Amino acid sequence: MAGLEVHIGDLKLKNPVMTASGTFGYGTEYADFIDLGRLGGIFVKGTTLAPRQGNDYPRMAETPSGMLNAVGLQNKGVDYFVEHLYPVIKDYDTHMIVNVSGSTVEDYVACAEKLADLDKMPAIELNISCPNVKEGGMAFGTSCQSAAQVTREVRKVFPKTLIVKLSPNVTDVTEIARGVEDEGADAVSLVNTFLGMAIDVESRRPKLSTITGGLSGPCIKPIAIRMVWEVFHAVKIPIIGMGGICNWQDAIEFILAGATAVQIGTYNFIDPAASVKIIDGIHDYLERHQIASVNDLVGKMIVQ
Ligand SMILES: Cc1cc2nc3c(=O)[nH]c(=O)nc-3n(C[C@H](O)[C@H](O)[C@H](O)COP(=O)(O)O)c2cc1C
Repeated sequence: MAGLEVHIGDLKLKNPVMTASGTFGYGTEYADFIDLGRLGGIFVKGTTLAPRQGNDYPRMAETPSGMLNAVGLQNKGVDYFVEHLYPVIKDYDTHMIVNVSGSTVEDYVACAEKLADLDKMPAIELNISCPNVKEGGMAFGTSCQSAAQVTREVRKVFPKTLIVKLSPNVTDVTEIARGVEDEGADAVSLVNTFLGMAIDVESRRPKLSTITGGLSGPCIKPIAIRMVWEVFHAVKIPIIGMGGICNWQDAIEFILAGATAVQIGTYNFIDPAASVKIIDGIHDYLERHQIASVNDLVGKMIVQ
């Protein structure tokens, strides 16, 4: 489709719409519902150096206009990914990008090193923002120093496109964005989930086994857009925006705030075809407004 191509680091995306880690499995799970080749990219499940069981149940709770999750990065580890999953997904006609998590800097580096060797893995997304694991994850993304350190060390071993996913659970997201840009990140993605909690009043127990978890869905969209807009004015590298996107209007809002591309997360659970409808909607919007390229809209909110 004309006018939809965007660039993130060395990645040329056929359109700016991708799916968010943890909400789209490895793509395979959605192949019966949509043509995966329509997507700009797929961010696969959070992957760690060693296998992880994830948190105890219950680890999902519905909230008005969103959901709380505490999945806790359940996955079979990077070696399993390389051996069993990568061969299945590597020839999809879209960019497959692994979301990498860890408890220590060494974990992130070792995981990134293994992924760097894969021909058809053009990029990774460093998840320094997971609120649902006891160690690591968000601990890296909420301190400027450790966000910068993990980016610097991974940059040394991963020469391809490096995207760093930022936590919204901070006072000033721009500081962290600048810190990772200075250490060589090619792009930032934001936002991960917001720390939240819910209580069942009859049992008086928390609705999640971990008590707190990550809030996602339409309820976080205005805050996510504000953060994208702030980061757009703080860094030069491209931004991948997400948080509550349900339709093409939401996606355009993120783009006008400064996102070069977007990810669709929680809404995939409601409508597995949402991402494709959003691509078509953005295309129609460009035609209707006679805008040659979606790049012409990035950060172009009109103030006054
Ligand atoms: C069930 C679930 C699992 C998730 N797992 C991950 C993950 O493994 N790694 C990660 O970086 N983000 C993870 N996320 C966060 C999403 O990728 C996304 O950043 C967040 O949900 C906000 O977007 P949304 O409101 O469109 O869902 C997860 C979100 C949900 C709902």
